[in-house]
Amino acid sequence: MLSAEKIKNALEIPVEVRVFESIDSTNTEAKRLIKSGEKREMLITAQTQTAGRGRQGKSFYSPKDTGIYLSLVLNRETPEASITAAAAAAVCKTLEQLTGRELQIKWVNDIYLDGKKVCGILTEVLGSAVIIGIGINLTTSGFPEYVENGGSLGINADREELISRIANAVYKAAFLKTEEFIDYYRSRSMLTGKKIYLIENNKKTPAFALGISKTGALEVMLENGERFSVSSGDVTVREE
Ligand code: BTN
Repeated sequence: MLSAEKIKNALEIPVEVRVFESIDSTNTEAKRLIKSGEKREMLITAQTQTAGRGRQGKSFYSPKDTGIYLSLVLNRETPEASITAAAAAAVCKTLEQLTGRELQIKWVNDIYLDGKKVCGILTEVLGSAVIIGIGINLTTSGFPEYVENGGSLGINADREELISRIANAVYKAAFLKTEEFIDYYRSRSMLTGKKIYLIENNKKTPAFALGISKTGALEVMLENGERFSVSSGDVTVREE
């Protein structure tokens, strides 16, 4: 079982801590607590999730003990898009310090190591609360079929310490202005310069990723030369 005491001891931020052995989803639990009147900022974590959720209605594979699964609930005015990119940069930097490896951010907020997705972030807004859900694969393997390109960091980190470090970093990053983290974000951008598909309503539009704008949007060019920025959505790399 994860120790709430150990997590609290390593936290540098004023949040309520809730630890579960097993839960459907820490983001869903955050929503239940907010709906039941909880107003405090919170860190919710679990050893395993039985219905972990990803972006675009996908599932997030969350087996016991091989990864960390947490939700940070913040009461901030910051726009969701900016908090999402800030969280990705903060998690990426923390994991780089931990592993000594350079990681990549696949816009908006998936984190990759050696071409495999090792971390996903799901940001949801409920009333005035922002729920930042983070799943990190430490040693997870044997991914089910629905996981595309799943990978792991391949480290046996102290999970309580890592949970606290990630929460500390994301909490602080959520106060930053985009210009304070965008250069680092850009330096880790996996899509920049790649042929991609923009995915909307099951429709794939071929495009080229030009880069990341100063607000964190993805700048793209269509095959007819038209250029624009995308501020949310799903993108895959085109292997051609
Ligand atoms: C993605 O890959 O699209 C995002 C995955 C986010 C997973 C985390 S694990 C903790 C939190 N609870 C969830 O159900 N999802 C997030």
